[in-house]
Amino acid sequence: MYYVNERLVNLHRIFDQNKREGYLRLDLNENPEGLSQEFIDGVLSRVTPEMVAQYPETLEFTEFLAGRLGTDIEHLSLVNGSSEGIRNIIEAFTAPSGEIVCVSPSYAMFEVYSKMYGRNFVPVPYRDDLTITVDDVISKISDDTQLLILVNPNNPMGNAWSETEMMRFFEEAERRQITVLVDEAYHYFCPETSINYALTHEHVFVTRTFSKLFSLAGARLGYVAGWPEGVALVQKLNTPHNVNMFAMLFAKKIMETEGLLDSMIENQLGGKQWLVEQLDSNGYEYRSSEGNFMFIKPFSDASEIVRRMKAEKGILIKEYDGIGAFGSCLRVTTGPKRSMERFMEALIELDKA
Ligand SMILES: Cc1ncc(COP(=O)(O)O)c(C=O)c1O
Repeated sequence: MYYVNERLVNLHRIFDQNKREGYLRLDLNENPEGLSQEFIDGVLSRVTPEMVAQYPETLEFTEFLAGRLGTDIEHLSLVNGSSEGIRNIIEAFTAPSGEIVCVSPSYAMFEVYSKMYGRNFVPVPYRDDLTITVDDVISKISDDTQLLILVNPNNPMGNAWSETEMMRFFEEAERRQITVLVDEAYHYFCPETSINYALTHEHVFVTRTFSKLFSLAGARLGYVAGWPEGVALVQKLNTPHNVNMFAMLFAKKIMETEGLLDSMIENQLGGKQWLVEQLDSNGYEYRSSEGNFMFIKPFSDASEIVRRMKAEKGILIKEYDGIGAFGSCLRVTTGPKRSMERFMEALIELDKA
């Protein structure tokens, strides 16, 4: 008899992201404007036929990255987007029917991977006022919990755990022997980081991505940082040559270019600040603490705004339903001021009370 994995048959995945060209993309927390064409051309001009013909070599880039992080390569695994690292950690550090605790809403793939591997995903909901406490999360940990996922700052809510709060999680997890995954996809938009803790303790991982601030979502690159034995297990689950040469070349050049990262942060957070001021002066309720995205409560129907933004204004944004006292609302990726101006103008026109 043929065998088919029933879990996959029943798994719901969304693969509808292929026709976004030409839209102002404020739906997936990428950089809507990207790197300059000049920068792209400069990097590509260094690509040789040999570099394309051979399997990608990761040692040089991993050493470079380790140097930037003040660690060594045993503490790092390069992954094909941090989503690959997250999947590897779930596969390596949880068992079928084991519990994975994570706040909700958060990045959808945590739950998708849990279902894919037959793990029990335990969501910790935000309160009505959209706050959540360490105790709310800890109260959901049981004897079956094997992985605690903390997203700093969390997507889509934008809240970040402080260092003191993270320490409470780490101590509780260590006491109960639960692995912790700290997802720092939005690290550059938020000062809090657990990277040094992950580099010096066992059973704590940090995942990071080059898809967001670095504007390399199309190139697929991320990394897992942790203790060497744990990282080695993550590495074993990678497909051979999982990380491509173009992604490493771009990432290295971005980090090497004096002042580039700082100006990208300034440019993107400057646009966010402008949007915050506009929302204030137009009487909007929103949440915007950390990250390159905002949660906005519209005056009229959120799904209708999302539909018309796309159809009439060529702007992609995302709707979230049932979010505490916010009800249904918009999650909008923030970016340089020019993109925020286009979004705000469209919002004022479409969102009639
Ligand atoms: C919290 C979080 N983690 C991870 C990812 C995945 O990023 P990537 O696989 O592109 O590195 C995302 C993407 O939106 C995210 O929001």
